[in-house]
Amino acid sequence: MTRAVTAVAPGRVNLIGDHTDYAGGTALPMAIDLGTTVTYTAGGERLEIRSTTTGDRTILRAGDDHEPGSFAAMVAGLLAVLGPRAGLLEVDSTLPLGAGLSSSASLLVAGAMALGAPQQDLELALLCQEAERQAGQDVGLLDQMAIIAGRAGHAVLIDFAELTSTPLPLPDDLQVVIVHSGQDRSLASGAYAERRAEVAAAEALVGPLPRATPQQLAEIDDPVLARRAQHVSAECARVAAFARTIITDPAEAGRLMVESHRSLSELFEVSTPQIDALVADVAHRPGVLGARMTGGGFGGCIVAVAERGALDPRSFDRAWTVRPADGAALSPTG
Ligand code: GLA
Repeated sequence: MTRAVTAVAPGRVNLIGDHTDYAGGTALPMAIDLGTTVTYTAGGERLEIRSTTTGDRTILRAGDDHEPGSFAAMVAGLLAVLGPRAGLLEVDSTLPLGAGLSSSASLLVAGAMALGAPQQDLELALLCQEAERQAGQDVGLLDQMAIIAGRAGHAVLIDFAELTSTPLPLPDDLQVVIVHSGQDRSLASGAYAERRAEVAAAEALVGPLPRATPQQLAEIDDPVLARRAQHVSAECARVAAFARTIITDPAEAGRLMVESHRSLSELFEVSTPQIDALVADVAHRPGVLGARMTGGGFGGCIVAVAERGALDPRSFDRAWTVRPADGAALSPTG
C-alpha cells in the first residue's frame, strides 16, 4: 500500500517592499496562519486533483489547457518541472483565493513538497517559481521565499540580490490585520507583466535600481520609467528603515507603510481608487500605526499594523487578524 504524504504551506502577507523582488531589491513579508494542506497518495496511471474545500475534482491529462490561476494549472506547472506523477492530490485551503495572499504559491510549495520535490529552501523556491511560470505567471521570488522561510513570531527580511532571508522578530503587542477590498485581482496579470518590463527597461538605463543614486534616477528621461525606478529605489530604503524601527519606533514603521502605499499608488500605479480609499480609512482608525496595499496590487487585500486589539476584523466584510507563522513543512502524520 502506498503511503500518503502531507505537506502544509502558509500564505504570506507582505508588510513592506512590493514590486522590489524582480528588481533585485528587498522586502519584509511574513508567513501567516492561513494556508494550504496538500496530501499526495501515489498510485494508478493518472493524477486526480480533489479540492476538499469545494469538492471539485479534476483529472490532469497531458496537453489539456487549464484555466489560468486554477489549481489544475498550478499542478500541471509543477508536473512540467518535476516530471509526471500519478495518484490522488487532495488540496485543502484556508486562504482566500486570488486575494493577494499567495494562495497560488502556497499551493505550489505544499504541492511540490508532497510530490517529493527537493527540500532545500532556495532550490524549492526556484522550482515553485518555475512551475508558476509554466502555469502562465512570470512572478518574482517574494511569495515562495516568504512561505518557505517563515518563522512563528517573525517577519522575514529578504534580499533578492543575494537570495537570502533573515528572520526579524515582531513585537507581541502589535496586531497585523488583513482586509479584503472586495475587488478581485482579475486585471492583475497583464499589468504585472507590464510593470516587470518597465523595471527591466529602467534597469537597462541605470543598472540595478535598489543601488541607483539619486543622480542616476534623475537621468531617466522617460517619465513612466522614472516613476517606476523612483518607487523601487525608495521602497527598498523603506524596507530597511521599517526593519530598523518596527521594535524601537513602531509609529515610524507605520508611517513608512503609508508612504509605501502612496508610492505604489502614485509612482508604481498598481493600486485602485477602492484600495486607496480603504487604506485611508483604516490608517486613520484609532490605534492603527499604518496600512498599505499588499502584494501585486490591482485589487486584493490591504495590510494594517495596529496596537493589539485596536482593530476588530468583524468591522469589515472580510478581514482577518493574522499571526506570523512557521514556513512550509511536511506533516509528521503524513
Ligand atoms: C506578486 C508576485 C511577487 C511580487 C509581488 C509584488 O505577489 O507574485 O513575486 O512581485 O506581486 O511585490
